[in-house]
Amino acid sequence: MSPEQIQKLVAEIEKKDLSTAAHTWRVVLYTRALLESFGVDRDWIALGTQAAALHDIGKIDIPDRILQKPGKLTDEEFEIIKLHPVTGFARMITLNVSEEPIHNVVRFHHERWDGLGYPFQIKGEEIPIGARLFSVIDSFDAMTSVRPYRSEIGDDAAQRAIVELQAGIGTRYWAEGVEAFTELFQTGQLDYILHYFNDDVPVPSFMAAREEEFEAIRNHYKPK
Ligand SMILES: [Fe+2]
Repeated sequence: MSPEQIQKLVAEIEKKDLSTAAHTWRVVLYTRALLESFGVDRDWIALGTQAAALHDIGKIDIPDRILQKPGKLTDEEFEIIKLHPVTGFARMITLNVSEEPIHNVVRFHHERWDGLGYPFQIKGEEIPIGARLFSVIDSFDAMTSVRPYRSEIGDDAAQRAIVELQAGIGTRYWAEGVEAFTELFQTGQLDYILHYFNDDVPVPSFMAAREEEFEAIRNHYKPK
């Protein structure tokens, strides 16, 4: 898929989900940091970051009245939201995106290690590794970003989110994914993402940003 096509889809997801460009950037950059720590090559990093950017693409097909509902969702409405991995996969097929690692993240990012996730309720090693890793990242970002119902998250939000991830090992999450992410956090390698890409900052359009810009930001926030 071309960078322009990805950019267009990402903008559509953000508008639909009322999420911010900064959210997309954070999950993309966490994914990249995690893959770099595993020592995978550039092609895998490119696939992983595209998958991260597109993971919620299926939300484009969920009605606004449900996705943007301010109050609590009914059970029925939540059942419809739970279909976004399926509608997302259908979109990938329609758009001729054939890379399986991207399909895997789109389809399985809400599955849980214990099989209590959605929509397929597969468990453990049945869940492709990319989706297991991405669910850790997606949860971390949900716990550390500002939401309409939680405007103050506090300085210790990230630390608390790590505790939550650790507590979810074996139920929600794959142990190795949580451990690898925790290691990155504890060695300060996620600080530049947490500090810089808050929801107020203007971010470059997806894939248009040059590598040097990120290096500059990363260096600026590197632990001294
Ligand atoms: Fe999702």
